[in-house]
Amino acid sequence: LALSGCGQEAKPAQAGELLRSKAKLPTPFQVPLPIPPVKKPTRSDAKADYYRVVQQKASLEILPGLKTEVMGYDGLLPGPTFDVRSGRTTVVEQVNQLDVSTVVHLHGGHTPAPSDGWPLDLIMPANGQHGGHHMSGGDMTMGKRTYTYPNTQRAATLWYHDHTMDYTAPQVYRGLFGLHIIRDDKEENLPLPKGDREIPLVIADRAFDADGSFLYPAAKDGPGVESAYMEGVVADVTLVNGAPWPVHEVDAVRYRFRILNAANARRYELAFDKGPAKFVQIGSDGGLLDKPVEHKTLVIAPAERFDVIVDFSQYQPGDEVTVVNKLDNNSGVLRFKIARKAPDDTSIPATLSSYAVTPRPAGVVRREWRFRRGDAGGHRGWTINGKAFDPAVMQAQVKLDQYEIWSFVTDVHHPVHVHLAPFQVLTRGGSNKLSAYDHGWKDTVDIRPAEVVEVLVKFSAHKGKYLIHCHNLEHEDMAMMAAFETI
Ligand code: C2O
Ligand code: CU
Repeated sequence: LALSGCGQEAKPAQAGELLRSKAKLPTPFQVPLPIPPVKKPTRSDAKADYYRVVQQKASLEILPGLKTEVMGYDGLLPGPTFDVRSGRTTVVEQVNQLDVSTVVHLHGGHTPAPSDGWPLDLIMPANGQHGGHHMSGGDMTMGKRTYTYPNTQRAATLWYHDHTMDYTAPQVYRGLFGLHIIRDDKEENLPLPKGDREIPLVIADRAFDADGSFLYPAAKDGPGVESAYMEGVVADVTLVNGAPWPVHEVDAVRYRFRILNAANARRYELAFDKGPAKFVQIGSDGGLLDKPVEHKTLVIAPAERFDVIVDFSQYQPGDEVTVVNKLDNNSGVLRFKIARKAPDDTSIPATLSSYAVTPRPAGVVRREWRFRRGDAGGHRGWTINGKAFDPAVMQAQVKLDQYEIWSFVTDVHHPVHVHLAPFQVLTRGGSNKLSAYDHGWKDTVDIRPAEVVEVLVKFSAHKGKYLIHCHNLEHEDMAMMAAFETI
């Protein structure tokens, strides 16, 4: 693996085992919650905003008193947040000053194929000498590439991240991920919390070596790989917006949190350690729900987003409330300290947005996507419909502007993601009763062991090659990805 800035040889870990840090870890809930900076355009015209991002190494103090070398957009972890308007085009010049090749994908974007981040459309390193990963079959560019995002979609919380064939997992782990928030007037006219009461929470797990450098399993190419890599990498430090188990001071009012699970492989079940706080979900991957949904706990798989309102008004100044992960022994994720009482003129409307909740159309095209371990046919790893990812093979030709019902079939857990169009979940486990987390427009859906999930999807506007894949990033790199073509 071409991991730059590893510092030391990473140690392989056991199958499905937790990667444990060797560094001295801080007491939880001491480090303040950072908010990723909003990216400023270099110029704007009537239709578009133009940006320049430099992918570079940087030495960041993630753990107090230690330095971690990251690969970051503008050297940040997470990268800067794009905060853009629906219908206005975002043009991003991505400069690669790393010593590995990269690819940028806007996750959840309704993006023309040349800007979607095809895994072989590599941006080769600017300095040239290292050469990066050598793979052919894509539209390679030297040193930089310009991505154009029309943002022709409703307000939603998107994110961008690396998508390099075979190397997405280690490159995202080292820092190549950030938020891309699309806003529109409809949403802004709702009486929801805004300004510093609207906070992104980007959650990801990482492990650190004694010197502060990231720990990551060494090799998927060597013996023993089937171990740590195979199941996906899970680590012992929880970062929120790049800080370990942070703390944030809040007023005793409503807040809006845009939660992204940016972890490579870990699922979370978020809950508050003590009542009465709960999550009122107002949005999912694809923007606002039609009406709010209350959750005691929030199960969030890799790449999923939950847009939630939390009301702290029943707490007293001085109270503390901790968000814990029920899937990991109620270990802490982050803590809120209630600082003071304050006026609050926000509310959660009973109707948030309206969209056709599409009934099951008759006679639509159906496709089945089977997500399985791939120990057959000489491929060790993961497969879709029995095939390891092959960029030369289109597993489906999909007509634009027509509904299709896609079934996702698995044996073990896989968060399944489709590029280009959001979908609605129709059935889960054979019943129309969806899970509490299936509401609204999704682009990633958590498929649980031995389960079938059916979704309704319709692609539009852009013809070209797109992807469906597992968003457990190690699974993705171990070939659990398929290409399809929109025609
Ligand atoms: Cu978030 Cu194809 O990826
Ligand atoms: Cu998977």
